[in-house]
Amino acid sequence: MIETTGRETTNSSSPTSTTPIQTPILKTYSNQDIGKGRGVYVSTYGCQMNVNDSERMYSLLEMANFTPVPTPEQASLIIINSCSVREKPVHKVYSEVGTFRKLREKNPDLKIGVGGCVGSQEKDNLVKKQPMIDFVFGTDTIDKLPEIIAKVYQSEGPTIDTQFAHRAPYYVETLIRNPGVSTFVNVTKGCDNFCTFCVVPYTRGREKSRPYTHVLKDVQELIQRGVKEITLLGQNVNSYESECGKDFADLLKGLAVETNIERIRYTTSHPKDFDEKLMDVMAQHQNKICEYIHLPVQSGSSRILHTMNRGYTREQYLEKIQKIKSIIPNVVLSTDIIVGFPGETEEDFQETVRLVQDVAYETIFAFKYSPRPFTKAARFEDQVPESVKERRLAELFEAHNKISFELAKQYEGQVLQVLVEDYSEERGNLHGRSTQNKNVYFLGPKDMVGQTVSVKITKAFPSTLRGEWIPT
Ligand code: SAH
Ligand code: SF4
Ligand code: F3S
Repeated sequence: MIETTGRETTNSSSPTSTTPIQTPILKTYSNQDIGKGRGVYVSTYGCQMNVNDSERMYSLLEMANFTPVPTPEQASLIIINSCSVREKPVHKVYSEVGTFRKLREKNPDLKIGVGGCVGSQEKDNLVKKQPMIDFVFGTDTIDKLPEIIAKVYQSEGPTIDTQFAHRAPYYVETLIRNPGVSTFVNVTKGCDNFCTFCVVPYTRGREKSRPYTHVLKDVQELIQRGVKEITLLGQNVNSYESECGKDFADLLKGLAVETNIERIRYTTSHPKDFDEKLMDVMAQHQNKICEYIHLPVQSGSSRILHTMNRGYTREQYLEKIQKIKSIIPNVVLSTDIIVGFPGETEEDFQETVRLVQDVAYETIFAFKYSPRPFTKAARFEDQVPESVKERRLAELFEAHNKISFELAKQYEGQVLQVLVEDYSEERGNLHGRSTQNKNVYFLGPKDMVGQTVSVKITKAFPSTLRGEWIPT
């Protein structure tokens, strides 16, 4: 295992059910004036965690008097919140920084920073290779951003702060400017699974869970702000474990029973940690917990799953799926798949295709294997040629398209419960999601945003549904 950072930071305060969520950093920097008269623009790549992190950055910087702006042209501070899970992330960062060259010529006050997973992964290499970058921070130093930026505006040299707070407890409240109807709530961070293809354990550090009481309090506050639906977020949410010994099923149950939240979703769960207790809680609280599960399988071949270090076989995965389907009969499933993992033969790949057909996922997210720094699989010898990866990816999508359209057609004529999220002035229609996580579009008055309404599906497309509102 390669540890990518130096010194660890600690936080010795301990939570009790009455302690507020501790974010001393907010108090320390909220009075600073570094942002006065300066606009900030954050360019976001990657997963929902990064989207949430960008919101956190905007909120923290607003407290330091920066003004969020909608384009890089209006900004005196540009942050690239990067992702390194696939492809050429470092390249992407350099090319984006390059596009800001002209802006720097016009505005010498402009500062450019790189954060997120590429920041944690590359650290000072970024400034060495691209001197236009003024500062680099990591996934664990977001809360230090006002301090880092204050240093950048005060000094000439670049500032790098990418240390992981490996031993610090995970105390964060959701910082979001406009939470809307549906919002994300972090419950775990980091990952200790070390799948051999994945960079995340190196870019997000060790796995940690937020205290149970903190999550509940956070959700209560979001409800006060008008939130109706939350999606619990983590790289591996179902290995959640609070200091008081609550597991993920307990957390879901607690949120369903102890708060007035209308809907609960979560992502991403790991098959090896998906137990019957979780299935039972989902079944018992279906009035609140949505019946949609994203359960990444990655491959349908037990041999490949073993070399991926996923911790389950094809048979064990399929057994879990069977159990889920028997306990939650109306469950809707989606998955992630990697094709062309080192050593994947045609037979291994065909096993993946068959698994996708057998499980009948409504949605798949499939990717060509991409070697990542620090990971074991990047050093495996039997890498699959790019042309083979491309062909397999196309074949997998073609096989899935055949079933996904049929699955979508089944919704025609059904009445779904849709939580209305937004109204488009341009198209004059409403959009929301059903409990099955289907995007549904229909006509209706604007003031229905935030309500859960009945919609009869009139037309199904592979990824969206069109319907008619049924007033009750
Ligand atoms: N924690 C989640 C996955 C997070 S990364 C889980 O374990 O399921 C999101 C997805 O990106 C993964 O599920 C995987 O399908 C894909 N992915 C991760 N590393 C990859 C790599 N090196 N090449 C291609 N796809 C990758
Ligand atoms: Fe990556 Fe595996 Fe952790 Fe998911 S469980 S984030 S794929 S190491
Ligand atoms: Fe990307 Fe980091 Fe998320 S690598 S997918 S932004 S955890």
